[in-house]
Amino acid sequence: MASIDPSPPTGAASDWTVPQNWDAYTAAEHATWDRLFERQAKMLPDRVVPEFMTGLDMLRMDKPGIPDFEALSDRLMKATGWQVVAVPGLVPDRVFFEHLANRRFVAGSFIRTPDQIDYLQEPDVFHDVFGHVPLLAHPVFADYMQAYGQGGLRADGLGAIERLSRLYWYTVEFGLIRKGGDLKLYGAGIVSSHGESIYALDDPSPNRIGFDLRRIMQTEYRIDDYQQSYFVIDSFEDLLRQTIETDFAPLYAALDGRPDIAVDAVLPTDRIYTHGTQAYARDKNNDERM
Ligand code: PHE
Ligand code: CO
Repeated sequence: MASIDPSPPTGAASDWTVPQNWDAYTAAEHATWDRLFERQAKMLPDRVVPEFMTGLDMLRMDKPGIPDFEALSDRLMKATGWQVVAVPGLVPDRVFFEHLANRRFVAGSFIRTPDQIDYLQEPDVFHDVFGHVPLLAHPVFADYMQAYGQGGLRADGLGAIERLSRLYWYTVEFGLIRKGGDLKLYGAGIVSSHGESIYALDDPSPNRIGFDLRRIMQTEYRIDDYQQSYFVIDSFEDLLRQTIETDFAPLYAALDGRPDIAVDAVLPTDRIYTHGTQAYARDKNNDERM
C-alpha cells in the first residue's frame, strides 16, 4: 500500500541521509573492519564472482580501515555513476527505492562490535559497503540495482512491495551465479558472512535452484539464519534482461492471493542444481526443541 512516510529523524536530511562522520570512527572500529575484511578477502577469490574482486580492486577497497564514503563515491561515480550515502539505519521503502532509482546506495555507517563478528541481524557498514558496493562498479549489475529501485516505486503504487522484496532477497542479498561449470557467490548477505560464504556453496543442506522470477516472488525467506534455498542466475546480463523486459504488474495481479512456497520446497518444475538434504535447518530445529 502506498503510505505516508514517517519523517526523518533529527539530524537527517529530508532524504534521510546523514553525514558519515568518518573522523569519529575509533581505532578499534577500523580494526574490526580490517579483521572482517582480511578474513573475507582471503577466502572469497575462488568462491565469489570475479567481477566482485575486480570491483574491490577498482574502488581500492583493500586500503585499511572503514572506507570514507566520499572518496569511495568519487571512484564509484567514475566507474558507473553510483554514489554511497550514509543513513541512520533502515529507511522507509519509498526512500530506499528513490535513492536506488537515482543511483545512490544507502549504507549504515555503524560497525558491529567484536562479539558480533560472526553474526548480526541489522546491516552494518561491513555488510552494506563490503557486501554491496563492489558489484556497483559493474555496469550491468549497477543498472540492475537502479532498475530495481524504479520497480520498487512502481510496486509501492501497486501494493506489491513484499513480492518484489523477495526478488531483492534472492538476488542482491543471497544470489548465486553460474560461471562455467561452477557456482559462485554474488549476494551481499552471503559475501559479508564468513559462515554463509562456505555454507552457500559447499554444504549439502540447502537447495540450489535455477533462477525463476515468478517462482521467487512466491517464495518465503528467512532472515534469522542461513538460507534453505538459493537461486542461481546464468549471468548479470540475463538477470537484467529478464527483469526489465518483464512487466511485473500482471505478474503481481496473477500471484495475488496464491499460497506462498515454503523456504525449503523443491517443485517438479524447478531447475535443480542441488536438492538439499536440509540437514542444517533440521538439526538446528531439534536443538532448539531440546
Ligand atoms: N520490470 C519491472 C516492473 O515492471 C521493474 C523491475 C526491473 C523490477 C528490475 C525489478 C528489477 O515493475
Ligand atoms: Co544488504
